[in-house]
Amino acid sequence: MFISFEGTEGVGKTTLIRRLFEYFQQQGKDVVLTREPGGTPLAEQIRSLLLSVNHDEKMSNDTELLLMYAARAQHIEAVILPALGAGKIVLCDRFIDSSFAYQCAGRGLSRDKLHLLNENFVAQMPDLTFWLDAPIELGMTRARERGALDRFEQEKVTFFESVRSGFAEIHARDPERMKRLDATQTEDAVFAEALSYLE
Ligand code: TYD
Repeated sequence: MFISFEGTEGVGKTTLIRRLFEYFQQQGKDVVLTREPGGTPLAEQIRSLLLSVNHDEKMSNDTELLLMYAARAQHIEAVILPALGAGKIVLCDRFIDSSFAYQCAGRGLSRDKLHLLNENFVAQMPDLTFWLDAPIELGMTRARERGALDRFEQEKVTFFESVRSGFAEIHARDPERMKRLDATQTEDAVFAEALSYLE
């Protein structure tokens, strides 16, 4: 089983993933927790490139997209496919829906570009995706409290509104795979809602 977790900044993805990871472990399941961009040493290096703020040179949107997929290709081959092949449960903090929401809906890149990459470089779709949804302001306040903002977190509210509508579009298109969780609830309530879908 391959489960991904999506949402805008500060919606509580990390907390939910940790709790589900512990839940599966307690059940004696073999479970792997990983994230994108990242998840392998090389992909984590690409993540640093993607998140760091460089005032001397603006990263182009195409470069951003391709770096995301370079990291993803490495992650799929080195982590996701071997784990699924060994019968493990894979919990992944972000996956391809983030590319649609951030790079297409947010940055305005064409869907054709994304489609080309998904068709050629993504051999594995999640079985289930949790979309943690909350108003942008709420998440941004939480993100700010965490400390220095990364290159994405420095974007404006309007950017994140577009990202959020990108997730909403995927949810409308594929409600079977993507389940929306109301992230304005307490951590316990979000966890309980996620469990109800899993069961
Ligand atoms: P992450 O660390 O999950 O952010 P958060 O602090 O919200 O948990 O992800 C890092 C950033 O990468 C996040 O701002 C979203 C962005 N991202 C994309 O733009 N496209 C992608 O395909 C992925 C996987 C992430």
